[in-house]
Amino acid sequence: MMVRHFLDWTAPGAPAIRAMLDEAHRRKQARRGMPRGRPDHDRPLDGHTLAMIFEKPSTRTRVSFDMAMRQLGGSALNLSSSELQLGRGETIADTARVLSRMVDAIMIRTNGHDKIEQLAEYAHVPVINGLTDHNHPCQALADVMAVEERLGNVRGTTWAWLGDGNNMAHSIIEAGSLLGFTVRLGVPADYEPEPAVVAQARALGATVEIVRDARAAVDGADVVLTDTWVSMGQAGGEAKLAAMAPYQVTPALMALARREAVFLHCLPAHRGEEVMDAVMDGPQSLVWDEAENRLHAQKAVLLWCLGVLEA
Ligand code: CP
Ligand code: NVA
Repeated sequence: MMVRHFLDWTAPGAPAIRAMLDEAHRRKQARRGMPRGRPDHDRPLDGHTLAMIFEKPSTRTRVSFDMAMRQLGGSALNLSSSELQLGRGETIADTARVLSRMVDAIMIRTNGHDKIEQLAEYAHVPVINGLTDHNHPCQALADVMAVEERLGNVRGTTWAWLGDGNNMAHSIIEAGSLLGFTVRLGVPADYEPEPAVVAQARALGATVEIVRDARAAVDGADVVLTDTWVSMGQAGGEAKLAAMAPYQVTPALMALARREAVFLHCLPAHRGEEVMDAVMDGPQSLVWDEAENRLHAQKAVLLWCLGVLEA
């Protein structure tokens, strides 16, 4: 069998993504009330180890992958690239070859997407994307889970993305193209998502709309999402913050969405910038479910990558 990497949603494809989402929902329900460090009853990854490489900071991705491995009966190694020889010039290819002899899977958070592609090319074990500058596919699974829990089927819904057309926006656009929801982006001219990402989604039949007006983006939406205006490793600056200001998610903006609409944010949030407290902490906010779902979604990703979840 080909090594199953999880770098985006397109390679696994819609049936595998659906299987992962179903598995994540099922395992979440099955272990309700159990202590968080106690393994699931079937311990499906008993004896397996995940190496986690972080080239950028992380709270959710770090803790959720570690706990995911514990709950699946395995364990995780928490590695920072600055402490690896990778940080002082050992190549990605050689790092991939060595880790492949010692662990069962590798999760990496890095900057350039070409780096994770290279890691996957040379690794003999599955490589999982814990965020690159290009995308964040694990987060998109957790987001869809949270919306399915509240609204049910996402097919035919409209998701309004506000602010920066960044890595997270790319994964939401890709998710829409595989699961059949519309993504309407309210973004400033210089901060649109990469045209290739939009083109790929449209080629799959997806509806991806780009508008300048935040109110038009949110009008009648089922889901409203945003993210930090300055991502890790980005320069930011006054000009970008000024361009983003009209896209702040406020209660007045949320009022233009459907009455049942929900608010998502992958976190960490910069309260008072891209979102106001009243929205983050309000009844439409699913941000804490979304964060928790990282754990459940990643368990399904790990099971798919290691061939336990057939799809
Ligand atoms: N949402 C997310 O990936 O959070 P961390 O940066 O804390 O991992
Ligand atoms: N767009 C953000 C997401 C953080 C989880 C970043 O890349 O910093």
